[in-house]
Amino acid sequence: MLKDKNIIVGITGGIAAYKTASLVRLFVKAGANVQVIMTPNAREFITPVTLSTLSGKPVISEFFTANTGQWNSHVDLGLWADAMVIAPATASTIAKMANGVADNMLVTTYLSAKAPVFVAPAMDLDMFKHPTTKRNLELLRSYGNHIIEPAAGELASHLIGKGRMEEPEKIFEVLDRFFEKGQDLAGKRVMITAGPTYEKIDPVRFIGNFSSGKMGFALAEECAARGAEITLIAGPVALNTSSPAIHRIDVMSAQQMHDAAISEFATSDVAILCAAVADYTVENALDHKIKREKDEIPVIRLKKNPDIAKAIGEIKKPGQVTIGFALETDNEVENAKGKCQRKNLDFIVLNSLQNKDAGFQVDTNVITIITSDGKALEYPCKPKTEVAKDIVDVLVKDYII
Ligand code: CTP
Repeated sequence: MLKDKNIIVGITGGIAAYKTASLVRLFVKAGANVQVIMTPNAREFITPVTLSTLSGKPVISEFFTANTGQWNSHVDLGLWADAMVIAPATASTIAKMANGVADNMLVTTYLSAKAPVFVAPAMDLDMFKHPTTKRNLELLRSYGNHIIEPAAGELASHLIGKGRMEEPEKIFEVLDRFFEKGQDLAGKRVMITAGPTYEKIDPVRFIGNFSSGKMGFALAEECAARGAEITLIAGPVALNTSSPAIHRIDVMSAQQMHDAAISEFATSDVAILCAAVADYTVENALDHKIKREKDEIPVIRLKKNPDIAKAIGEIKKPGQVTIGFALETDNEVENAKGKCQRKNLDFIVLNSLQNKDAGFQVDTNVITIITSDGKALEYPCKPKTEVAKDIVDVLVKDYII
């Protein structure tokens, strides 16, 4: 997908700069034209000769080339690029980008670039956690830049935490997928709830359900592949995500999922409520294990959980789109239509439990999409990854401006 694409690779002064040589190599092997721009500090971590040899073009670091008096035009570079990748991006460069500081060739070119920008932060864990860094990354997201989240692990400082630049292969894959698909969700923020919730009875027991989370995770990957930034609020599931555009928040109970969803929805364009949320929680949950020897049989009293979809429907602002799911066994279409209206959803995805290839645990699904004006679109049985495409197609075609 990257053949003949013009890619600016920006390198800043962090130890992860040595890995960017592999990234340049991967781009070149895929047939891309690569122009490396280094900040002055990046040159301390990796030699420009390595990068100009790998990219086949002299590296640019300064506004002027000293011996020729030639001016390096950031404007021309900005127009030339089909994509710009800044890897590693230090806290300082991120701060400059967020605030329009143009004091070196890289950040000046960033300001001129019209192409999609991908930022792969790399720094120590405390710098990454700092409110300033968080705020600056939020600002970059709000400009439509793609943040390739750093990985967690041992850092160059030997501390363990989040801040390690994502591996070159992963960064390459993000760009490859970006050009593979239509980026019809570029710049959009999508919040997705997925999986079951567990309601605690005592420290070892819970009330749960059979949801595997597969549908919600497939939706997260699909939205990410189409350019969105995702917050995936996941109940207890045994699944992993692959796109770095997916920011995952793990929760256990319905109340935790509700709190995370309400706070994330404020900055989301779209909410997909895919989780199988427990309708009730245990009112008399115990913090010690219930023992079997006792004569009396324990009685579990239940109380209602918050309805996340309904709460989101109540705070929804014009321009925000909400999508729900309905799992029904009888009066399917009527019940789904009722839920769509009650929860102020734009559309609802009905999956029938009458079909053995649909619903919990299985890899396939059979859906009907019911819109708020009562239209019903029926689909045949498909893998959940394909079903996710169908759902996102409707979202993009009819609801995203
Ligand atoms: N939902 C939610 N919070 C809840 C219950 C449901 O966000 N406490 C969402 C689900 O994620 C789904 C939609 O609401 O998108 C419908 O869920 P469903 O369980 O089918 O409906 P309920 O409102 O729970 O109604 P019932 O159990 O009576 O069918």
